Amino acid sequence: MKIESILIPKDTKEVESVTQDAFSETGDASLVEWLSFGEMENVINGGRGICLKAVDDAGRILGVTYAEQERPSNGNEGVEKWVIILAAVLREKSGKKIGSQLLQEMEKVVQDRGGAKMFVFTNEGDERVINFYRKNGYKDAGRIEDYQYGKGNSAVFLLKYL
Ligand SMILES: CC(C)(COP(=O)(O)OP(=O)(O)OC[C@H]1O[C@@H](n2cnc3c(N)ncnc32)[C@H](O)[C@@H]1OP(=O)(O)O)[C@@H](O)C(=O)NCCC(=O)NCCS
Repeated sequence: MKIESILIPKDTKEVESVTQDAFSETGDASLVEWLSFGEMENVINGGRGICLKAVDDAGRILGVTYAEQERPSNGNEGVEKWVIILAAVLREKSGKKIGSQLLQEMEKVVQDRGGAKMFVFTNEGDERVINFYRKNGYKDAGRIEDYQYGKGNSAVFLLKYL
């Protein structure tokens, strides 16, 4: 397996289908509610986003991760801080450390681009995802009530200094 940047537009459809598969049995299965592949591509093309893929020997994408600079209009603070928007591994390949390897590579690439810290947020109570980030060195950084979707959907934040 190797990890490399996705190629746009060649990989776009496969990235979407891997993501759809990974989330299909989660509460976030309706991707259109929280993810825009079109906007992801714009941000990548603008140099403020990174999308990595894990590919097997046959070139099949097994997992992807996407991160972007949090908010360039915040000056240094906004460009040093990156946010992970997406981590997705095919269900049939989950639990084999593919997600962890993608995350570690993402941290290196972000550091090379001048990033100093990464944060991520997920649905409160999603222990599987929270544990995934904790296992990878992310520390609990608080919660925001009613942050996602409608009322009653709170988010927990995790942060890692690179
Ligand atoms: C979250 C996800 C990216 C993790 O990728 P992965 O390759 O399966 O994870 P890893 O094998 O690197 O696991 C690392 C740790 O995460 C946690 N974890 C992963 N899968 C888990 C599961 N099915 N149940 C509980 N904990 C799990 C464990 O703590 C694990 O450490 P361990 O194996 O030492 O116990 C993947 O499972 C996925 O695509 N999930 C659905 C989409 C999603 O919710 N993405 C995250 C929000 S953007």
